[in-house]
Amino acid sequence: PRVACIVVAAGSGTRLGAGAPKAFVALAGRTILEHALHSVAGMSAEPHVVVVVPADRVDEARTVLDRVLSGGDIAVGGATRQASVAAGLALIGDADIVLVHDAARALTPSALFDRVVDAVAATGTGAIPGLPVSDTIKRTAAGGAIIDTVDRSQLAAVQTPQGFPAAELVAAYGSAARDVTDDAQLMADAGHPVAVVEGDPLAFKVTTAWDLRRAEELLRPASA
Ligand code: C5P
Repeated sequence: PRVACIVVAAGSGTRLGAGAPKAFVALAGRTILEHALHSVAGMSAEPHVVVVVPADRVDEARTVLDRVLSGGDIAVGGATRQASVAAGLALIGDADIVLVHDAARALTPSALFDRVVDAVAATGTGAIPGLPVSDTIKRTAAGGAIIDTVDRSQLAAVQTPQGFPAAELVAAYGSAARDVTDDAQLMADAGHPVAVVEGDPLAFKVTTAWDLRRAEELLRPASA
């Protein structure tokens, strides 16, 4: 199948507080975006890559994209992740399968991209990586009062890359009626089944300064 991969990197990174858009923050000597693109470059399928960035980062993104993947497209992102994905979808061309990936998941192994592509190719439906939730989860009210405990066995913490039949995702975006935080929810709203495949702890999202520190530690060469 022809595979396209949209890498969304247009977030502001307010929670990281590093003074730059998150995907352009340095992590072990490279930007978070560059790490993410190296993972994409390691995929078995050679995807058509679309990187979505803030308007003032287009030139920088072009340089990184040419260096790591020798080609691909750049789109300018929007105010929400959903708007940024929509901007990327406009440039995927005639792909059969589209992956949407958060640049902020900088350490995602290439094998996870392959697993998602394989699942979509095998089933013809959407596939997203997820991991069991290890903490006990409480539903709480304002002020911290506990309402109840959520049945953990029914929960999955989902990650990216999320993969879908391209035509279905494009149509789901065309008919999107609300703001959502992931593409699988839009697909569900449009009536398309999406399955969870095994995720990877390394696909964690760099959101806070703590996450950035954890990523730095994981990239540090083992010392004697
Ligand atoms: O903010 P959050 O960490 O959930 O963002 C997930 C991903 O979506 C990040 O890679 C971020 O750059 C991207 N994003 C985007 N455009 C936005 C908001 C987030 O491309 N307006």
